[in-house]
Amino acid sequence: MANRIVVDNVEAGYGTVQVLHGVSVTVEAGETVVLLGSNGNGKSTLINCIMGIVRPKAGAIYLEADGERFDLVGRTPAQIVDLGITLVPEGRRLFPALTVEENLMLGAFRKEARARIEQNLETCFEAFPPLRERKTQQAGSMSGGEQQMLAIGRALMSEPKVLLIDEPSVGLAPILVSRVIAKIRELKERRDLTVLMAEQNFNQAIKIADRGYIIVHGEIAFEGKSAADLQDNDMVKQYYLGV
Ligand SMILES: Nc1ncnc2c1ncn2[C@@H]1O[C@H](COP(=O)(O)OP(=O)(O)OP(=O)(O)O)[C@@H](O)[C@H]1O
Ligand SMILES: [Mg+2]
Repeated sequence: MANRIVVDNVEAGYGTVQVLHGVSVTVEAGETVVLLGSNGNGKSTLINCIMGIVRPKAGAIYLEADGERFDLVGRTPAQIVDLGITLVPEGRRLFPALTVEENLMLGAFRKEARARIEQNLETCFEAFPPLRERKTQQAGSMSGGEQQMLAIGRALMSEPKVLLIDEPSVGLAPILVSRVIAKIRELKERRDLTVLMAEQNFNQAIKIADRGYIIVHGEIAFEGKSAADLQDNDMVKQYYLGV
């Protein structure tokens, strides 16, 4: 199934403050695309525009699935989830007082996924074994890495075709970042996912990205056609690799 996300010339912001200035990004079916940028440059704003959480003032955002085009602007986040797009939000946004299993169940409300809750739960536990061991533990008492696994697991419960992941590495030790990144790659290959990931951690992101964009002050400053292309970029060398 071909699922493509197109962000076309989007302008967006909060109140009178404009954050995104004519941003265009595409994610082709089966690709993993990284959105690189340091703090406050508009990564989350863009991801939240796709998800229907922030409404663009101008431009278009659409999902192309099997030749059909679904405009996303104006749809609610729940409607966008129903189309097969799921967000792993920045800061995870778990329900700390609920158990691991209860948090996972909250990801399963998408109509198409409801019939396969048991299978999807099994997939999550296979992907992230600590979640099975800790399914009755309160989410808030898990370690940062475990919580990130839970946030990704919860997203998988909706059987997404497109996964948006906002900074999976924040607050995690490098070893855990590597594990989470490796798992995202594995899931992507196994489940034929299309992935758009916002990340500041260039060295980790580059391990799974097919290509990517650098966003600076709400504008796409560079479009890398491949991982190597990004690695060779002067901005990346200067800001992310310390060369
Ligand atoms: N709800 C909001 N209301 C007002 N301004 C906001 C809001 N959310 C974000 N902003 C502003 O928009 C700009 C872009 O923020 P955004 O969260 O998109 O950046 P980011 O690239 O995701 O940064 P980070 O890496 O720190 O998560 C920032 O200047 C921020 O202060
Ligand atoms: Mg952000």
